[in-house]
Amino acid sequence: MARTFALVACLVALIAQASSFMIGPGGGAAATIRAQRQGAAVSGFTGCNPVCQRDATTDRSALRMMRHRKGFKKLNLPADQRKALLRGLTTQIIRHGRITTTMVRAKAVRKHVDHMITLSKNGSLHARRQAMGYIYDKQLVHALFESGAERYGERPGGYTRIIRTTPRKGDNAKMAIIELV
Ligand SMILES: *[C@@H]1O[C@H](CO)[C@@H](O)[C@H](O)[C@H]1NC(C)=O
Repeated sequence: MARTFALVACLVALIAQASSFMIGPGGGAAATIRAQRQGAAVSGFTGCNPVCQRDATTDRSALRMMRHRKGFKKLNLPADQRKALLRGLTTQIIRHGRITTTMVRAKAVRKHVDHMITLSKNGSLHARRQAMGYIYDKQLVHALFESGAERYGERPGGYTRIIRTTPRKGDNAKMAIIELV
């Protein structure tokens, strides 16, 4: 966050410098005076260190960082409960086609729903058993494998849609509707 802010400040400073440079030689007397007046203000923008300046102008790769510890949302639950929750949500979404849940849960469960539909499009016995091992309802897996391929055959992924809805009463948590496309 602080880095982003510093970068933005840097960019603003650089743009200000660039524009004053462009106005300086080309414009009339008024523009020159304005540029000179701005000169003092621009020199005041040197809040960012030289490393930051180098990043913003030439060496963009220097800003990149590895995405450590961004694997998945823990949902504030221990692993077993988290798995159970995601399996349950996946089952419910496939059963009903649409559910309302928190935005974070919707985003976390999305890839599992997509995975189940991908398995159903494959249709092999192995895929069916993999789906059986995740979805809680055996009949539902059969139903999914029956019609999943024809319903989503053309679609190259992205079988779910997440729609924002009104925040939850009580704790004001962001809520979402997640539905099958
Ligand atoms: C299902 O997946 C397996 C393993 O990836 C693959 O070998 C097989 O060809 C797939 N079957 C179909 C019908 O796509």
